[in-house]
Amino acid sequence: QRPKVLVTREIPQPALDRIKEFARLDLWPAFPPPEKSELLRMVGDADALLSMLTDPIDEDVIAAGKNLRVIANYAVGFDNIDVAAATRHGIAVTNTPDVLTEATADLAFTLLMAAARNLIAADRFTRDGFWIAWHPQLLLGQDVFGATLGIVGLGRIGEAVARRARGFNMRVLYTARRRNLQAEAELGLQFCSLEELLRQSDYVSLHMPLTAETRHLIGAEELAMMKPTAILINTARGGVVDQAALTEALQQGTIGGAGLDVFAVEPVNPEEPLLELPNVVVAPHIGSATVETRTRMGLMAVENIQAVFEGRRPPNLVNGELFA
Ligand code: GLV
Ligand code: GLV
Repeated sequence: QRPKVLVTREIPQPALDRIKEFARLDLWPAFPPPEKSELLRMVGDADALLSMLTDPIDEDVIAAGKNLRVIANYAVGFDNIDVAAATRHGIAVTNTPDVLTEATADLAFTLLMAAARNLIAADRFTRDGFWIAWHPQLLLGQDVFGATLGIVGLGRIGEAVARRARGFNMRVLYTARRRNLQAEAELGLQFCSLEELLRQSDYVSLHMPLTAETRHLIGAEELAMMKPTAILINTARGGVVDQAALTEALQQGTIGGAGLDVFAVEPVNPEEPLLELPNVVVAPHIGSATVETRTRMGLMAVENIQAVFEGRRPPNLVNGELFA
């Protein structure tokens, strides 16, 4: 009997086809994610779980997966998975780094530009028939070219954003757990403290994973350090920002605007006060959402599963101690 791979949502077809070459495919077919009870039931006889960031893979799910050998998350972030519990159960956890770096950096820059130039308001204005005359003071945004960008978290994606900023002749500051001298030299970045970065930047873009240390890293105090014109971009995880504090900062004019792809609770409630603010550009967690990237992510997740089935160390192992 071939092993069974549970896939919790319809990922691009090439990845599903690849699974069928070496395993039985159990695919959750609905648009919304499975409820926990469904997940617990389905994982019961699965040898591998290809999970989405919307699936909370906690100790219960891990324990229910009696035959589970690998959890391949279809994301670079894996804050939805209790990795320590998986490790205790001897289950490999993998993610999809690198392949989504450029797409996510593109979206961060898209949000930055859209927020800086009031693009969404301008689109609505034009469609809604308000364009009765060109006016010198209409829909004024702020410069991106030559402005100062602060990058919080200089991993793969943060660095890719810095690379884009060079083309806009931006001064780029960054803060990270470790200095990256090579990136500093190559991209002309300046390392500084979070406080200094917040005080000096016209745009602040977040690129750290969500961990116990980064949860609510950007709260009321940090927002108060930012320029009143500054724009906050978040394509990382909603949890790294105190969303109530952000809403208040935007309402009070403590900061100038925000471009958000991620939220404290997803999907974000349409009644959320944040969504009523004109100086906020939002997207429904689509950082990696391009045809090419999502296909590469699928194939990468499948490759990780196949490696475990063949007794190899999966290329994108998160809990390295398992194959030490
Ligand atoms: C998306 O949010 C990811 O972590 O890949
Ligand atoms: C604007 O359209 C300009 O020509 O300056």
